[in-house]
Amino acid sequence: EKGGYDHFMLKEIFEQPSTVFDCLRGRVDAANGTITMAGVEANIDILKNAPRILIIACGTSWHAGLLAEYIFEELCRTPVEVEYASEFRYRNPIVNKGDVIIAVSQSGETADTLVAIEKAKEQGALIFGIVNVVGSSIARVSQAGAYTHAGPEIGVASTKAFTAQLAVLTIIALKLGYEKGTLDNKRFLHLMNELQDIPEKIPAALNQAEHVKQLAYKYKDARDFLYLGRGYNFPIALEGALKLKEISYIHAEGYPAAEMKHGPIALVDENLPVVFIATKDSYHEKIISNIQEIKARKGKVIAVITEGDDVIAKMADDVIEVPAADELVAPMLSVIPMQLLAYYIGVAKGLDVDKPRNLAKSVTVE
Ligand code: F6R
Repeated sequence: EKGGYDHFMLKEIFEQPSTVFDCLRGRVDAANGTITMAGVEANIDILKNAPRILIIACGTSWHAGLLAEYIFEELCRTPVEVEYASEFRYRNPIVNKGDVIIAVSQSGETADTLVAIEKAKEQGALIFGIVNVVGSSIARVSQAGAYTHAGPEIGVASTKAFTAQLAVLTIIALKLGYEKGTLDNKRFLHLMNELQDIPEKIPAALNQAEHVKQLAYKYKDARDFLYLGRGYNFPIALEGALKLKEISYIHAEGYPAAEMKHGPIALVDENLPVVFIATKDSYHEKIISNIQEIKARKGKVIAVITEGDDVIAKMADDVIEVPAADELVAPMLSVIPMQLLAYYIGVAKGLDVDKPRNLAKSVTVE
């Protein structure tokens, strides 16, 4: 059932060209310039007029939600808040009629997320579920939704469900931005094409697996890791750190790259590997300065870069290349090395990567 792979996690990482493709199929038609998504179409007026969108999730799904905040605000100009379900449900949250709640969950059974949306539903919000498991509790409580169609995810660490969540959230943002008129036709078509090209670009990111495995052996004995990114790649820094913690039991922190000088930079010395997610985007010059700040303090820099980026390649200790893509969709590529690095470090340390200690696939207790 592992299809020739050593672990479910690796199998699921390598499934991503087809899972993202399946997620887009029948929804995004760049050639004709159309997006079809029944759950969005049926509620288009509520979505267009929503004064606010609240995204509620936990863990990796929360990271997808954080990235969606950036994308929705850019394309739809609707204010978005991203909430940890466990915090939201216990603090007398403000929910107004007309607000839209997007719940993101792979399992559809996460207790905190489920209770949070039940509460918000009572307060008059529309609940839109983005769920992988068909017919799950969160899918049933939602009044509208879109499945991620990533297929069963067995490895405890979420991988293919995450890229599918990003794909669905991006499709919704594109559709809504277009309908609201906040996204012009040219950019709409451009982004649709960029999104549709992602499944064909993922294999090039996966081709780095052997190289990432070598890096895993080089860095596996580090005590701590720092993961830094800016803009659309900041949530990917958080996700990279979470993957490493859960699979390799190495302490890791994700931070916005510019925030590092407000504290975490004190951690940097020659023993600290710092992973930069530094693909070519509108933050490129800024993140180059951040890399220099780490190098000046003798930190070891592992940079995820866009293919052919010689500038960062010269500065970094090690690089992992991913194909070029528009910055809005690039995280679906830059997260692949994060998944592979955590996986291979876990394997290098002889750990049970499919079933990390203390973790369960779905957290049905609060
Ligand atoms: C991390 C991971 C968890 C889940 C979280 C939410 O790899 O798997 O952080 O993302 O427990 O689970 P779902 O998405 O099922 O609600």
